Amino acid sequence: MNPAKRIQTLPPYLFAEVDKKVAKAKSKGKDIINLSIGDPDLPTPKPVVEKLYEAAKNPDTHHYPSYVGMKDLRLEISNRMKKRFNADFSEDEICVLIGSKEGIAHLPLGIINPGDYGIYPDPGYPVYRTSIMFAGGKPVQMPLKQENKFLPDMDELNKKIKFLSLGKGKTKLMFLNYPNNPTSATIDLKFLKEVVEFAIENEILICYDNAYSEMTFDNYVAPTIFEIKEARETAIEIFSFSKTYNMTGWRIGFAVGKSENLNLLKKVKENFDSGVFNAIQIAAIEALRSKDVESEVRKNMKIFEERRNVVCEKLEEFGAEFEKPKATFYIWVKVNKEKFKVTEESPSMKFCDKAIEKGVVLTPGVGFGEYGEGFVRIAITQSRERITEGIERIKEIF
Ligand SMILES: Cc1ncc(COP(=O)(O)O)c(C=O)c1O
Repeated sequence: MNPAKRIQTLPPYLFAEVDKKVAKAKSKGKDIINLSIGDPDLPTPKPVVEKLYEAAKNPDTHHYPSYVGMKDLRLEISNRMKKRFNADFSEDEICVLIGSKEGIAHLPLGIINPGDYGIYPDPGYPVYRTSIMFAGGKPVQMPLKQENKFLPDMDELNKKIKFLSLGKGKTKLMFLNYPNNPTSATIDLKFLKEVVEFAIENEILICYDNAYSEMTFDNYVAPTIFEIKEARETAIEIFSFSKTYNMTGWRIGFAVGKSENLNLLKKVKENFDSGVFNAIQIAAIEALRSKDVESEVRKNMKIFEERRNVVCEKLEEFGAEFEKPKATFYIWVKVNKEKFKVTEESPSMKFCDKAIEKGVVLTPGVGFGEYGEGFVRIAITQSRERITEGIERIKEIF
């Protein structure tokens, strides 16, 4: 069978390459410490799991769910948006997702016509670029550079968009993600305002991916884009239960936005999927409602904060170049290019190959895009002991 062009034109999936190398090392009996996965090692809070047991036993939950999500869950999300962000969204302005990845992947189909442009951050979560391409759009690279604290250069972007608007396509969509994967950069309201003004001026829908909204340290509180009043006109925001509640395997998240914008996504979803298992949605209500869960989340964030401190102390000791993250469970570290000369292979890949030889898996920055080259991502999703051992093992590469 001849694969479709959209599959053929995909860039090589570097993470699969890394997996192969890991499998090879494991087959030789090597003890591997995996610091590459964005999947928390901690369990889902007990009250949420128990709610799932209970709900799954009730046959009423066994039918097709609602396309947009259970009303009770959407009401609970509406309350959470008010309480956490002072943002007003009715239950009709909320749509439950099968994980935030699903919403990200489907949204471009609702707004991009073949030939239109979609902006994606580079480095960034790879699904942004792919989903623009799958919708027939042309991905527009938005570099996140170290000298700009991994925020986009809005003057540069403005020029790019003005130039593109001279052609046939129109720029319709922009993905933006803070707290950021993979750089762990955070954003302030001044910058968000600038982005919102840019989007309004150019009639672009922003898809603000806030998957790490609650995964913050040192008293940093991540904002919603809707703290900028005008964002309501030009943005939808996507949240996830995966990282906050250690629920990556459950596949549940949600999108928020005024009906006119959110309907772009709802229309696609109505035709492609049939929602999230009702018992999981009932458990998600528990995650949002329960005080015990709230305190467990706070405790978990302290655990990640401590792990971050341990890794950052070690990296400082080794003289590595990095910014101590205020959010996410990633540390974005510069690769010493003098040591890892750019030959036919990328320095970040080469660094990760050396780490695998030492029994440690890291993610090469280039896997997140061209501008990720020269960096590696360390995920603190293992126990403190394993992380410490892992970092010690790769000391000499630093
Ligand atoms: C920036 C970002 N957005 C979205 C997701 C997808 O999360 P999920 O589909 O589990 O909600 C991830 C997962 O790693 C991510 O890093």
